[in-house]
Amino acid sequence: MNTTNRIALSSDHAAIPLRQAIAAHIAAGGWEVVDIGPTTPESTHYPKHGQAAARLVASGDCRLGIILCGTGQGIMMAANKVKGIRCGVCSDTFSARMIRQHNDANMLSIGARVVGEGLALEIVDAFLGAEFEGGRHATRVEMIEPAGA
Ligand code: RB5
Repeated sequence: MNTTNRIALSSDHAAIPLRQAIAAHIAAGGWEVVDIGPTTPESTHYPKHGQAAARLVASGDCRLGIILCGTGQGIMMAANKVKGIRCGVCSDTFSARMIRQHNDANMLSIGARVVGEGLALEIVDAFLGAEFEGGRHATRVEMIEPAGA
């Protein structure tokens, strides 16, 4: 399967309109969107949505993932529990670019109650438009492993 163009997308109830705006934006930009919902506004639990998207990325089904909740924090924490996932929360474009270039982040999390739609779309563009630089950064990324207390 060619996953180079596939972006996994999910959120909890707090971020459905922004997630849908992001889906339309990146689809218009030529990405294949794998939007796994939810689509109805009932209160739900961010860990299951974040980890469902994370599994699509970790399995190789999708190249990258974008997840959202109210703050972006809870769903990021859940996604990062899936082996192979490196997900950062971003509220600015600089960080969104750098987590790709230096941290080889394969998922981006955004807080729908933190940033407006215009900034969120720019954050998404910064993330998707950047590439991992490798080199010394690869050494450091390889050191990101579960560690005991
Ligand atoms: C839901 O109210 C809210 O807690 C959730 O969207 C998220 O912000 C958690 O981190």
